[in-house]
Amino acid sequence: MLNVGVIGFGTVGSGIYERLLNSSEELKEIFQTEVQMTKILVKDDTKDRGYTQVKTLTTSDPNEFFNQQYDIVFEAIGGVEPAKGYIVQLIQSGTAIITANKELIAKHGKELEELARQNGVYLGFEAAVGGGIPIVNSFKTLFSTTPIHSVTGILNGTTNYILTEMKEKNRPFADVLEEAQQLGYAEADPTDDIEGYDALYKLKILSRLAFNSWPNEDNFFCKGMNVIEEEAIDFAERNELAIKLIARTSNENRVIRGFVSPAFVTKDHPLYNINGVTNGICIDGATIDRITMSGPGAGKDATANSMVEDFVLHEQFQGFNRPLSQQHNDRANEEMSVIVF
Ligand code: NDP
Ligand code: HSE
Repeated sequence: MLNVGVIGFGTVGSGIYERLLNSSEELKEIFQTEVQMTKILVKDDTKDRGYTQVKTLTTSDPNEFFNQQYDIVFEAIGGVEPAKGYIVQLIQSGTAIITANKELIAKHGKELEELARQNGVYLGFEAAVGGGIPIVNSFKTLFSTTPIHSVTGILNGTTNYILTEMKEKNRPFADVLEEAQQLGYAEADPTDDIEGYDALYKLKILSRLAFNSWPNEDNFFCKGMNVIEEEAIDFAERNELAIKLIARTSNENRVIRGFVSPAFVTKDHPLYNINGVTNGICIDGATIDRITMSGPGAGKDATANSMVEDFVLHEQFQGFNRPLSQQHNDRANEEMSVIVF
C-alpha cells in the first residue's frame, strides 16, 4: 500500500484527488499495490468539497495531518509559509514530496533540494513550471549534457489568456481576469500573474535546470503585463506583431541573465501563435538548435496530470533525483526575434 497525503484541496489539490481516483487501476498495475489517499490538509474543513470520501479524510488541524505516515505528499497550497515548514518537516521524516509551488521552489529551492538530497527523498516540482508541459523532468533527464544557450517562453497561462482574449475578442481586461480566476488559472492573489512574478519564479527554476545553478537575483528583472500601454497595442496591430509576456534566461559567457517582460513577437517566432492558457517554451542549444514545447500552462487537469506523472516517474525510477551534471555553456546569446519593451 502506498499512503498519499495531500496539502490543499483547491483547483490543484482536487485535481490530484480526482486523477488518483480515475487512474487507480493503472496505478495499481504499475506499483503492484493500492495507492491510498490517507489524509487531506486544508484551511477550512467545514467547506463542502463535493465528495463524501473527502469529508472523512479532510482536516484543518496540521497536528492531525502530521500524525500519519505517508510515502508521498502532494503540496498544493502555494506561498512560502506554512508550505515551506510543512515540506521541511516531511522531508526530514523521509517523505517524498511533489509540489506545484513555484514561489517556494524559486525562493528556497536550493536549500530544499539540499535537504532532500541529505535525507535521500524525492522533491518533485514538475507542475511548478509550464503546468501540463513536461519540461522539468525533460531537463533533468533528456538535457543533462546538452549545452543550452537560452530558454525563452510564455510561462504564465493567466496573462496569455487575458492578452489573447483582449486581442481576439476585444474584451476588457477586468472581465477576462475574472474569468481566468473562475477557470482556476490565476493565483489566489493574481498580482503575481499580472506583475510578472509568477513567470519570474518559473524562469528562475528553468534557469537552474538549464544552467545547473540557482541564478543570482541581481541578474534578473521583471515587468508584468500591467506596463503595456495603448500605444504598444496599436503599434503591434499595425505591424503584425503579437504582444506576449516573455520570460527568457540565457548564458552569456557564463553569466546567467534573465528577464520577464511584455515583448513584441514577430510572426516567424514559434511563440507568436501560442494563445489562450497555453504556454510555450523554446530551448536553444548547440546540438539541438531549437526545441519548442507547448501545452496547457494552467488549470486543474493539466496540473494534476504533471503531479501524478511526476509521482509515477519517481516511484518507477527511485533515485531519480540525482544531481544534474555540471555543464558549462559558453556560447554567446543568439539573435532574439522578440523585442523587449
Ligand atoms: P487554490 O487557491 O485553488 O487552493 C488552495 C488550497 O490550499 C485550498 O484548498 C486551501 O484550503 C488550502 N490552503 C491554503 N492555505 C492553507 C493552509 N495554511 N493550510 C492548509 N491548507 C491551506 O490554489 P491552486 O490549487 O490554484 O494552487 C495551489 C498551488 O498550485 C499554488 O502553489 C499554485 O501556484 C500552484 N499551481 C497552480 C496551478 C493552477 O492552474 N491553478 C498550476 C500550477 C501550479 P481551503 O480550501 O480550506 O481554503
Ligand atoms: N497562475 C499560473 C498561471 C498557474 O496562470 O500560469 C500555473 O502555474
